[in-house]
Amino acid sequence: ISKNLERDEQETISLIPSLPSDIDFNGTKLFKYQSCWYDKKTLQGVLNFQKGFKPQETDIIVASFPKSGTTWLKALTVALLERSKHSSNHPLLSDNPHGLVPVLELRIYTETSKPDLTSFSSTPRLFSTHVPFHTLQEALKNTPSKVVYVWRNLKDALVSLWYFECANLKIKIDEERSLLESMFESFCRGVSYYGPFWEHVLSYWRGSLEDSKNVLFLRYEELKVDPRGQVKKLAEFLGVPFSVEEEESGSVEEILDLCSLDNLKNLEVNKIGKTARGVEHKNFFRKGEVGDSKNYLTPEMERRIDMIIDERFRGADLKF
Ligand code: A3P
Repeated sequence: ISKNLERDEQETISLIPSLPSDIDFNGTKLFKYQSCWYDKKTLQGVLNFQKGFKPQETDIIVASFPKSGTTWLKALTVALLERSKHSSNHPLLSDNPHGLVPVLELRIYTETSKPDLTSFSSTPRLFSTHVPFHTLQEALKNTPSKVVYVWRNLKDALVSLWYFECANLKIKIDEERSLLESMFESFCRGVSYYGPFWEHVLSYWRGSLEDSKNVLFLRYEELKVDPRGQVKKLAEFLGVPFSVEEEESGSVEEILDLCSLDNLKNLEVNKIGKTARGVEHKNFFRKGEVGDSKNYLTPEMERRIDMIIDERFRGADLKF
């Protein structure tokens, strides 16, 4: 492992200075790689992932722009795949969705391009990522693994990230208006962690149009409005559709109840635990409301984001 680490680090050291760089809202230096902004550590993970990942056709990758509904989608995916196996000791009762579906570039490939994946021996293997679609495609090396993407209105994702950062830093939200304002500027410029948002969303949107069999493009707002319909769509895409008997016996509702924000939030494991990266599980669960950003952004801020997104999404048939 240490030899690999050295080689990977050498490659990154020689690549990084050649990349465009800029500063995030909190002063972190970001590097632009394949049209997306990363800090140095994450970029190392992305490069290791692209280089070392040995995809399998049965793999399922949950993808998202951060704070867009990843936790919910991970929980739903686990619950759909596990539904015939567990009655009591369900994995969602003993671990947080992020522990069950780890982020490839942030958890698995951080140190090396050859991590030990023996704990992922059962199929399908479930992973997640925040990289844009073109970067993921390089790691998948033409293997037709299934990719499920969820996106969300940028204004709500921004406010969600603000809350998340404040909770992680243990600072009171009322005192941190200036943090929201600097995040807003970063988001509008497109220079933000895993940003620009619009390129991220468009990359998966195009990917789903080109290969709808292997790329499913979901929207948080649609999941909220029609959870039943969206979960049935997800089950079909994953190759585990609900049978008539399951539908009649209330299996869809059971999964929705298990994965609901209120249920997950109140599970012991999510009240007390922390992820491997030290984030308290409880911080992943807040309100889960559509349009909550209205309560925090000024009309002027909303207008500016709407204008940017209108322009960036022009020509794409995307509801915003
Ligand atoms: P809010 O901050 O708007 O409440 P991610 O999972 O990508 O980090 O996104 C976090 C957002 O998803 C948060 O939104 C959080 O409350 C919401 N969320 C988490 N679990 C959820 C669930 N089971 N159902 C619906 N929304 C959920």
